[in-house]
Amino acid sequence: MTKEARFAFGKNWQAFLAELDEDRIDQAVISLQQSLGLETLDGKRFMDLGCGSGLFSLAAQRLGADVISIDYDRFSVACSEELRKRFGSKSQQWEIKEGSVLDDVLMQSLGYADIVYSWGVLHHTGAMNKAISMAAERTKPKGLFCLAIYNDQGGASRRWLQIKKIYNGIPPWFRFFWVLSVAGIYEFKFVLARLVRFRNPLPFRDWHAKRQDRGMSAWHDWVDWIGGLPFEVAKPEEIVVPLRQRGFVLENMKTVANGWGCNEFVFSKAQS
Ligand SMILES: C[S@@+](CC[C@H](N)C(=O)[O-])C[C@H]1O[C@@H](n2cnc3c(N)ncnc32)[C@H](O)[C@@H]1O
Repeated sequence: MTKEARFAFGKNWQAFLAELDEDRIDQAVISLQQSLGLETLDGKRFMDLGCGSGLFSLAAQRLGADVISIDYDRFSVACSEELRKRFGSKSQQWEIKEGSVLDDVLMQSLGYADIVYSWGVLHHTGAMNKAISMAAERTKPKGLFCLAIYNDQGGASRRWLQIKKIYNGIPPWFRFFWVLSVAGIYEFKFVLARLVRFRNPLPFRDWHAKRQDRGMSAWHDWVDWIGGLPFEVAKPEEIVVPLRQRGFVLENMKTVANGWGCNEFVFSKAQS
C-alpha cells in the first residue's frame, strides 16, 4: 500500500446509509441482475470485494446468494454490518470482514466464489493491476468476475487526480465547499449540454432516473468521485487483454467511451 492520502470512503458510506430505503435496494437488485445477466443467484457464492455500503452484498443476498463481503475501511465494514442488521435475511449467509484485497493471506482464506464482484474498488487500492489479478484469482472455474474500473481519459484523468488531491489536502470543514464548487461547475455544464440538445435542462426531472443508477445518491457519488484516492485509471483494453491471457472470457462490457466514470466488465472464467 502506498503512503498516498486515502479518502475516507467508509464515512461517506455511513452518511449514505441514512438515505437508504427499499426503493434504492430494489434499484441495486435490478442493476446487479442487469450487470450479471442473471435473474437469480440462488445457490451461488457471491464475493463482494470492497463492499462499501454493503448495498450490493445485500442485493446479491436478496437474489439468493450466500455472500462474503470485505472492505479495507472499518467504517465501510460497520456500514455493511448495520445494513445486514437492518435489511439482511437470516436464511442465507452473509459474512463481513475487514481487510484488503491486496492481503494475500486474507484473500486465500476467502476461498473461491461463483461470482466475484468488485465495483469501483480496485482502482482505489494503490496497486490496481495487482488487485485485479488477486480478485480474479478468487473466481471459480465457470464463475463470473465483474469489475468496474475508472476510464482513462488522458489529460482529464490527470486533472481529476489534482482535484482529488486538493480535496484530501484541505481542512475537513472546507471539503463540503470544494465538492459543492466542483460538482456545481459540472452540473452547470450538464445543464448547458442538455439545453443545446433541446432537452429539459433541469436535472430534477431526472430525480427518479438518478435513483435508478445503482440505487446510489447523487451527492454521495460526487463526494466519492471528488475525494476518492488512491486513484488509477485504465483503457478498456488494458483490463480485457491481461484477463483474456489468463483464461477469462469477456461476456459483457459497458464502456463510457471517451467519457468519465467507470467501464464495467463481466468475465467468465474458463474451466481449468
Ligand atoms: C467507490 S467504493 C465502491 C463500493 C461498492 N463496491 C459499490 O459499488 O458501491 C470503494 C470501496 O473500496 C474500498 N477499498 C479501497 N481499497 C481497498 C482495498 N485495498 N481492499 C478492500 N477494499 C478497498 C473502500 O474502502 C470503499 O469502500
